[in-house]
This record gives sequence, C-alpha cells and structure tokens, in this order.
Amino acid sequence: MFDLPTYLAAGARWIEDALRRLVPPADTRPATLHAAIHHSLFAGGKRLRPILCAAAAEACGASREVALFPAAAIECLHTYTLIHDDLPCMDNDDLRRGQPTCHVVYGQAIALLAGDALQALAFELATRTPVATVEIIRELATAAGSTGVVGGQVEDIQGERLPPDADRLRYIQQHKTGDLIICACRMGMLAAGAPPTDLAAITDYAAAIGEAFQIADDILNATATPEQLGKAVGTDAAREKTTAVSVYGLAGARQRLHQLVATATAALAPLPGNTQPLAALAQHIATRQS
Ligand code: IPE
Ligand code: IPE
Ligand code: MG
Ligand code: MG
Repeated sequence: MFDLPTYLAAGARWIEDALRRLVPPADTRPATLHAAIHHSLFAGGKRLRPILCAAAAEACGASREVALFPAAAIECLHTYTLIHDDLPCMDNDDLRRGQPTCHVVYGQAIALLAGDALQALAFELATRTPVATVEIIRELATAAGSTGVVGGQVEDIQGERLPPDADRLRYIQQHKTGDLIICACRMGMLAAGAPPTDLAAITDYAAAIGEAFQIADDILNATATPEQLGKAVGTDAAREKTTAVSVYGLAGARQRLHQLVATATAALAPLPGNTQPLAALAQHIATRQS
C-alpha cells in the first residue's frame, strides 16, 4: 500500500544526497558565501518541489532519476527566493527552516549574494538534464522571472496595507507560489519525455495545488506556532498582507482548499503512470501542519 510519509522521507533523502553532491562544498572559496548557501539549503526544508518534480516523472511512467537535475534546480531556486524573501527590505524575518535566517547569520550583503548564486546554480543544474534541456531551462526562466515569482513578490510587497482584494490575491498566489510548483511538475514531465496532453493535465493539477499550498501557508501563518513551522507566525496580519485569510476569512480559505484538492485529483485521470503519489501529495499540501 502507498504510504505518503515513507515516500516524502525517501524523496527528501534523495534530493538532499543529490544536492550535497552537486553544490560546491561549504569550505569552497569564498568560504563565507558557500557557508551561507549551505546554511539555508541544508537547514531542513520540506523539499516538496523536488518531490513533486520526481512524482510528475513517475506519473508518466518514468523513474524519478530522470528528474534529478530539474529537481535539484528547483530546490536551489526556491531556497534563493526564501533567502531574499526574509531580507529586511522584504518580509524582514529572523527565523527560517527552524534556523536564524541567512542575513541574520551572515549579513545582508552575503545573504543577497547567496541568493544570487543559488539562482545561477539552479540554471547550471538544469542544463545537465539530458532530455528536453532547452524546454526545461525555459520553464525555469519563465517561472523565476518578472511575470513569475519575482512579479508575485512585487505584488505581495505592494499589497501590504491595502484593502483585501480577490484579484490581487489571485495574482500573488499564482506567481509568488504557484509558478514554481507548476514549474517543478512540468519539468519532471518534460524530463520524462511526456507528450503535450500529459503536460496539460499536470499543469491543471499543479495550478490547483499551487493555490492550495499558499492558502495552507496563509492559514498556518494565522493559526500555527513558530515551533511547528520553523518560521515566524502572525506576520501576515501584522504587515497587513493580502492573503487568503484576509480576503476569504479562515473558514472561506479552508473551504477553497477542499475544492482545490478535488480539482487537482481529477486532473490526474489521463496520466498513464503511477499517480498515487501526486494524489496523496495534493491532500497533504492542503492539510499540512508545517
Ligand atoms: C515556503 O515554502 C514559501 C512559500 C511559497 C509559502 P515551503 O513551505 O515549501 O518551505 P520549505 O522549503 O519547506 O522551507
Ligand atoms: C514566500 O511567500 C514566497 C517566496 C519566497 C517566493 P511568504 O513570504 O508568504 O512565505 P513565508 O511565510 O515567508 O515562508
Ligand atoms: Mg513574502
Ligand atoms: Mg515571507
């Protein structure tokens, strides 16, 4: 029987081992920079994006190994966004992945540069994918760019202290969070040599879980503890951010989560491989407690 906790633990170990092989060692010159990169990258994230990338390859009948480089790339890119997101000029947070944030330990200049270097490393890793290499790099570039995660972060910051607005919320959710999740899934499929129909199905799945992921994050920011999350809580309300909780309320946000899990699960139907992991991941993303 499929057991999600075992699958998640194995996936996290798989990507962590790969990153340890692929990322320059912490004592590489300049040692402060590489120590900062290791501090953030190996602090114990959930590794959901690389796990989704691998699960997408499996959902079209391939082994997760085909998705190794895109999976490593998306985790590096994601970790860069977290380092920058925590900077004083952005969310100004002190705790991430249960550790002091990168800039708290290494200073703002090194944290900024560690993020820059992780983004470049993500693209270098993506180039090592043997199948659909250019398409995969294009996916990553589009998701990372001005109409992707960077655009989402801009509207998130600009949405502080503005009245809650459903259109702005949708834009923020889609781009600051959804685009990297969609990218992770699509890269896994592309690396597995999937046809356009499979890509369309995984895109629908990933768009739904991307929104669900951010709604869950917003709910947890309002309801969980720092010990549970390894990051600060209550900060969205304090900064008057545009979130699923500010726009829909807690009950409305929870209801939307249920709809999204149903949409995501239905989208998996046409896929030819093992979709059990993706189905379980959709449920997990909506109900996660950390
Ligand atoms: C946090 O992502 C940032 C958001 C997009 C909400 P995760 O919750 O996946 O963070 P890690 O990788 O587990 O630390
Ligand atoms: C982070 O969003 C999204 C990116 C880093 C792109 P949030 O600011 O809402 O996430 P947390 O709560 O800091 O993880
Ligand atoms: Mg933020
Ligand atoms: Mg933040």
